[in-house]
Amino acid sequence: MLGKKNNRVTAPGLSQMKRDGQKIAVLTAYDCPTAAMLDEAGIDVILVGDSVGDNVLGFENTLPVTMDDMAHHTKAVARGVHRALIVTDLPFLTYQQSKLVAVENAGRLLKEAGSHAVKLEGGVHVAGTVAELVACGIPVMGHIGMRPQSVHLTGGYRKQGKTSDDQERLLADALSIQDAGAFAVVLELVDAEASKRITEALQIPTIGIGSGPHCDGQVLVLHDMLGISEYIPKHAKDYGGLRAKMSGAFADYVADVKASRFP
Ligand code: KIV
Repeated sequence: MLGKKNNRVTAPGLSQMKRDGQKIAVLTAYDCPTAAMLDEAGIDVILVGDSVGDNVLGFENTLPVTMDDMAHHTKAVARGVHRALIVTDLPFLTYQQSKLVAVENAGRLLKEAGSHAVKLEGGVHVAGTVAELVACGIPVMGHIGMRPQSVHLTGGYRKQGKTSDDQERLLADALSIQDAGAFAVVLELVDAEASKRITEALQIPTIGIGSGPHCDGQVLVLHDMLGISEYIPKHAKDYGGLRAKMSGAFADYVADVKASRFP
């Protein structure tokens, strides 16, 4: 067990990967067996995303997700992982109110749940909070571009950084998060050229989702890449086709039981 933990991926280790030109592979996970399989496959970072809300818990979006939800799913993930860095999302309104609230909630994830780091959404306006968390010893991953927790404010899941003003705003956001001490930053639905510019400007790695090939790493939502989601976003690749396979298996089982073919 001890030996296995020695090759843990670390937050500073990700910046070294960037310097070495090694791409960083990130996926979300919300349960123990899936996290164990990802770890076995060599994933670098497992994100216990607040996307648990719309992918597992049946919510329309990530807004209703609670700290208890995040702690519960992180504990399950942590039981299955020996190597990957576990990053947990701070859900909506668990870090925006004050730095103290942010430290209490982020600290709980590291103390009780087994997270190694937290992720929060926002740029310049959350930089002070990022700095406070880092000062307390809590590694932080930023998240800029499309911010799902602000979906009602922005009016939808739209590409960011198409105009030069918007690119400047995103670059300022990324730099402020880096300057505050974040170890990486997710770029969600950011124009590919803007992502390239941000990636070149930063020393910390960028992790893209729907943001083109120039980021230092890529992240996908597990249910999208397995093909379980009812609607697979354009930026995702379906590696599993599992929705059709699972539905077929369920229908076969029901039919077999009804027809006394099983057991
Ligand atoms: O919650 C999540 O899954 C995320 C990814 C979309 C990056 O934040």
